[in-house]
Amino acid sequence: MPRYEDDGAPEGAFHKNRAARNAAKIRRRGKRLKKRSGVADLLWDEGESPRPTTDTLFSDPDLQELYDRGYLDELGSRLRGGKEATVYTVRRGEQWLVAKLYTDRSVRSFKDDASYWSGFWIGDARTAKAMRKGSRAGNEARQAIWVMREYTTLWRLYQAGLPVPKPAVGPEASELNRSGSVVLMELIGDGDEPAPRLSDVRLEPDEASSAWEQSYGIMLRLAGLGLVHGDFSTYNLLWHRGVVWLIDVPQTVEAHGSPEAVTLLRRDLASLATSFRRLGVEPDLAPLERRLVAALREAM
Ligand SMILES: Nc1ncnc2c1ncn2[C@@H]1O[C@H](COP(=O)(O)OP(=O)(O)OP(=O)(O)O)[C@@H](O)[C@H]1O
Ligand SMILES: [Mg+2]
Repeated sequence: MPRYEDDGAPEGAFHKNRAARNAAKIRRRGKRLKKRSGVADLLWDEGESPRPTTDTLFSDPDLQELYDRGYLDELGSRLRGGKEATVYTVRRGEQWLVAKLYTDRSVRSFKDDASYWSGFWIGDARTAKAMRKGSRAGNEARQAIWVMREYTTLWRLYQAGLPVPKPAVGPEASELNRSGSVVLMELIGDGDEPAPRLSDVRLEPDEASSAWEQSYGIMLRLAGLGLVHGDFSTYNLLWHRGVVWLIDVPQTVEAHGSPEAVTLLRRDLASLATSFRRLGVEPDLAPLERRLVAALREAM
């Protein structure tokens, strides 16, 4: 498939020599925005420089890579830009997906909470050290592992039958390992219209209690798999046709290696309950917490 450096494509003549190719590479890097913003920022800007190949659609190299490999046909619109990532709708054939583009590591903060990495096995002492030190190579490794964590957790939960978006790449490592900082997955919603978050909807009392039961049920099933989501609240739960869907999973920890798992689990339950107050649900948490912790301990 034609790639950026493909001199065989007609426009490849533009790259007469290595120096021109390198200059184009540097320009592309410059385009990797710290905070990804509008759709236009991700598309190749013909006004600035000619397309390196006829197949170049994106200025963002990771999106271009996915495009070249046939994972997406078109960029739709920007859904939401947060501290961590910016989410876009993308079309593949008849299907609408979402692409979650992680913000440059240097401007991310919150989810690098050490508790999400405690007990996480890196498996290479030099990489682990670089990640701890926060060197450039370390940050790049952390970013790549974060994307893999989101993909592998999504696959695991999807295959276990939990209501999470189906990942659109993988599960084979050979497919996943060129993902850069993008996670591509099923769009939960209708067509290109995403479902709202539970934090954004108004619900009738019976719907609200169903939403609570489902959400707690998801947390319990995760615990049964020995997993703790780590950021469980109505901000990361979508509400679609009366069904609750869990999203945003990269920080999920494996309880058996993590000394902080039980603390994280208690925190998740507390924050789920707090975020449900707005919906008028205030359950007695003590027995629910005991049940969760027991399920997690049993799975460890
Ligand atoms: N698969 C999906 N289907 C529909 N909407 C989605 C999907 N994934 C993400 N979204 C939307 O994008 C938003 C951000 O996604 P996500 O929670 O994964 O990222 P984030 O890093 O937490 O960003 P933020 O800082 O905004 O919370 C979600 O709140 C949701 O509205
Ligand atoms: Mg989120």
